Amino acid sequence: MSLIQEIRKRRTFGIISHPDAGKTTLTEKLLLFGGAIQEAGAVKSNKIKKGATSDFMEIERQRGISVATSVLAFNYKDKKINILDTPGHKDFAEDTFRTLTAVDSVIVVIDVAKGVEEQTEKLVEVCRMRNIPMIVFINKLDREGKDAFDLLDEVEQKLGLTVTPLSFPIGMGYDFKGIYNIWEKNINLFSGERKTTVSDTIKFEDVNDPKLNDIIGETAADTLREELELVYEVYPAFEKEAYLKGTLQPVFFGSALNNFGVRELLDCFVEIAPNPRPKDSDTREVLPTEDKFSGFVFKIHANMDPKHRDRLAFVKVVSGEFKRNTPYLHVRSDKKLKFSSPNAFFAEKKEIVDVSYPGDIVGLHDTGNFKIGDTLTEGEVMQYKGIPSFSPEHFRYINNADPMKAKQLQKGIDQLMDEGVAQLFTLELNGRKVIGTVGALQYEVIQYRLEHEYGAKCTYENLNVHKACWVAVEDENNEEFKEFKRVKQKFLAKDKYGQLVFLADSMFSLQMTQQKYPSIQFHFTSEF
Ligand code: G4P
Repeated sequence: MSLIQEIRKRRTFGIISHPDAGKTTLTEKLLLFGGAIQEAGAVKSNKIKKGATSDFMEIERQRGISVATSVLAFNYKDKKINILDTPGHKDFAEDTFRTLTAVDSVIVVIDVAKGVEEQTEKLVEVCRMRNIPMIVFINKLDREGKDAFDLLDEVEQKLGLTVTPLSFPIGMGYDFKGIYNIWEKNINLFSGERKTTVSDTIKFEDVNDPKLNDIIGETAADTLREELELVYEVYPAFEKEAYLKGTLQPVFFGSALNNFGVRELLDCFVEIAPNPRPKDSDTREVLPTEDKFSGFVFKIHANMDPKHRDRLAFVKVVSGEFKRNTPYLHVRSDKKLKFSSPNAFFAEKKEIVDVSYPGDIVGLHDTGNFKIGDTLTEGEVMQYKGIPSFSPEHFRYINNADPMKAKQLQKGIDQLMDEGVAQLFTLELNGRKVIGTVGALQYEVIQYRLEHEYGAKCTYENLNVHKACWVAVEDENNEEFKEFKRVKQKFLAKDKYGQLVFLADSMFSLQMTQQKYPSIQFHFTSEF
């Protein structure tokens, strides 16, 4: 098959939702359709139920054994589908943001009773900013929930989307009878007992056909007709181009647990979802169809077995073909690297693969060469954009608690930061190290991993920082900048790439500083 045909076959996407909306259940049903797994319950939830470290460790341990759950691939119809796992827990939001740089589209899952929740809002905002095509799946229709029109309004208002329903529920909760599929023009009837099988569908080109009354009852049929009329009046007609540009989001209704409305979602998805898309680098836009390979690291997974320190770096292939045993340029270090056993992912398994194509994810064994955001090419010097660091929410000094193990601690910190577990800032004034994280949970994770994987012990000390701001100035020699560096020395640090960062202790002091030094820019992300 030619490169273009391989590219056309691929659909690489992520499912995003607030925890508990049904992401794991939906993923599992999609895999069942692809024949990639045989039974329900095979996909492990990555949920952190109690919010406890032990919970996280258990999950990481399980994933360490089966890291492949980070990417679940399956074939459906003539398409190869790659689902990238996105943690729903807010403390791991940064991991999810980074994974979103590697997807070509997303499915947003919303709980019909809870509506739009906090984490959904944040993640959708990131997708919206990047114009990632989105399909919305409203889940748990077998339960009592909000009115369909109210929910569509909520999605538009809270998520800033322009929606158009491609299916519509017939009743809800106790009275849930099924779904009218606007996309395929048919009706799918619901029967509560069916948990895993694909339901039958009844073709219904015209809902005014009196036969509809016999099937769902006169009252339900009349209500459906009225509601559909309203749908056609109020919402824009579906246009694939608008969806691909990120300006229109189709909506499906269903129940993942009952495998209801899932096939409809999948059938539409494979038809409309984008192939691997072009990606911006610091020098130019790269097209998937270019014959030279390029890709970037969006995730690094530690091996949780302390006997094997190696890690798995997840690379998204952007262009050309990635081949086994071929030397590629690791742009940041200017070194050629060769990989003898790259992994491809299939359902929950990983296997060694000879060639991978744009849209695919390859897992590369790494002994410490990679950092998140690194680019690999066939020789071209360029760096993929779009994996910024965000200002952390929590800041603490990290201290060495075992003077005999200073080296181990240093190495452990460096490697954990490369993995993107947290961010390290080194104070300009005295070289002290500050760890910044998105959630408080990471501090325990870091302490645990330093001890178990590197044999090092650490303690933390509180530090009053409100935000980390990356500092930029046109001319480093300007007097204002020199004064800023002198006056604010106590609050200045370098990030792991040596970029200057201002650690503001309050919103007020940040505002005052911005006013006092207008020629200096303060950014909340590292890429600007
Ligand atoms: P998440 O990955 O988004 O966090 O959600 P997950 O799929 O784990 O689903 C969260 C809970 O919602 C699970 O119940 C799951 O069974 C339930 N659920 C998912 N889809 C539907 C649906 O269509 N209808 C109904 N009624 N429930 C649904 P749980 O009790 O928290 O977990 P479990 O013990 O059943 O696994």
